[in-house]
Amino acid sequence: MDKHRKYIIAGNWKMNKTSGESVELADAVIKEIGDQASVDVVLCPPFTSIAAVSSVVEGSPVKLGAQNIHPASSGAYTGEVSAEMLRYFYPTYVILGHSERRKYFNETDAFINEKVLAAFAGNLKPILCVGETLEERESGKTLEVVDTQIRGCLVDVSEKDAENLVVAYEPVWAIGTGKTATPQIAQEVHDSIRHILSDLFGQEAAQRIRIQYGGSMKPDNARDLLSQTDIDGGLIGGAALNAKSFTDIVNAAVSLDSEE
Ligand code: PGA
Repeated sequence: MDKHRKYIIAGNWKMNKTSGESVELADAVIKEIGDQASVDVVLCPPFTSIAAVSSVVEGSPVKLGAQNIHPASSGAYTGEVSAEMLRYFYPTYVILGHSERRKYFNETDAFINEKVLAAFAGNLKPILCVGETLEERESGKTLEVVDTQIRGCLVDVSEKDAENLVVAYEPVWAIGTGKTATPQIAQEVHDSIRHILSDLFGQEAAQRIRIQYGGSMKPDNARDLLSQTDIDGGLIGGAALNAKSFTDIVNAAVSLDSEE
């Protein structure tokens, strides 16, 4: 297998972990993965833990990510955080357009698009989440939904910026439910996503963009998912809250990489 793309395994801790607990978890992850650099490993703690986790990952191969940003750089947006404010903690990535933000905070593709542009302007690499609900899947609308989300969230993104983009395909029905898309179902959607990216940015750029799968990825299904041609990593929720299960997924990617 030769994908030419570096696997990226990111932990989305969501609204979990105090700053003390975050330090413990980040420490344990770093100890377990050592200095391996063949796979990108990213930790996305809540804002209250960003400063603490930033100090822990400094000097290690593990990268820091945020879970959200506001598109403006500063101003009267009570409760929000900008890319500009985050930059002092040296994050590399930011998760944008997660289905929980779309659902509970009514985020639209147009608003997510503003955030994507702000992320690039602030030197953050967006992990753009897209995915269909169960109802949409059952009515045969998966590809249509994913197409609309991707095009709507990537308006005005340049081909050059696109190379720093990561897309996460997260079928909503698989998030936190224990139901995982089969590797074949996931691969089919990942393949379509790459076609859409190719249409937007050209084939060469599309071949370089990494597409993660997210939705109940666990140590026991990671290998089968990650071995698919167009699955270049995982966005991990529940299993990222435990150092052992998270690093087992990282190690599945490391071992696939070494087989290439
Ligand atoms: P899960 O969450 O691994 O708990 O399903 C994934 C996500 O929401 O990013």
